[in-house]
Amino acid sequence: MADDPNQGLPATAADPDTADDCVIAQCWQHYSDQDHAIWRRLFERQSKLLPGRACAEYLAGLEGLGVAAGEIPDFERLSDILERATGWRIVAVPGLVPDDVFFAHLAARRFPATNWIRRPEQMDYLREPDIFHDIFGHVPVLMNPAFADYMAAYGRGGLKALALGALPNLARLYWYTVEFGLMRTAEGLRIYGSGIVSSHGESLYCLDDPKPDRILFDLLRVMRTTYRIDDYQDCYFVIDSFDQLFDATRPDFTPYYEALARQPDIAAGELLAEDKLFTA
Ligand code: PHE
Ligand code: FE
Repeated sequence: MADDPNQGLPATAADPDTADDCVIAQCWQHYSDQDHAIWRRLFERQSKLLPGRACAEYLAGLEGLGVAAGEIPDFERLSDILERATGWRIVAVPGLVPDDVFFAHLAARRFPATNWIRRPEQMDYLREPDIFHDIFGHVPVLMNPAFADYMAAYGRGGLKALALGALPNLARLYWYTVEFGLMRTAEGLRIYGSGIVSSHGESLYCLDDPKPDRILFDLLRVMRTTYRIDDYQDCYFVIDSFDQLFDATRPDFTPYYEALARQPDIAAGELLAEDKLFTA
């Protein structure tokens, strides 16, 4: 396999020190002044950059959460706001959790977020998600009812894909939508993927750089496409709306997985004759 299906999703080894659901306490009072200062710097830099770049749903969610720029948010307080909007809560986990645990949380409308924050020298690059990525990146769109339903459906779909041995295909859907999705709007191309909105460099690159392909969303095409975890993406997939995404993923994927098993992967950066590209 050209890409590792577990990258970007949790690892498979269970941590013996945590409960079966891997939930831990956030331990908010343990953050140092330096931790809060890093959050503040990241928050200010991204919230300045994103108007006109992130989609309206993301920006509305960020505002609705009232995630104070001032300090690392407390998950309980944030969850109370989120739950009122879409029924989701945030739970703290120690980093990567096993696939089945991750999917079960999503299916139950719980978003597992790590509680650690990067060091000052890691402002621009991280190998593993930290609390800034997990909260600033993922939680604002969970304030949107259509996206909130998509994520819960994805969790149920993940448990099914695991049972069917189709996780590599389904993981690509997560990657190219939840993490690196773009949206075509009347105002122009906008970002909704959490891996982009939490990255200063990629928030610029994904919209402005001529290099990556921007392909109109096609469910089976996405599930055939490999991805890279160590650099900006070679291609992005562009949806028209969260409703379009939710509708496209509503059918039972079992026959899709059977068809995909007989088709070769497509490398990121490779274009097919039938691909429709985004044009401004
Ligand atoms: N409908 C999908 C299935 O039957 C589940 C799913 C929903 C997957 C949303 C991804 C996103 O497996
Ligand atoms: Fe993420």
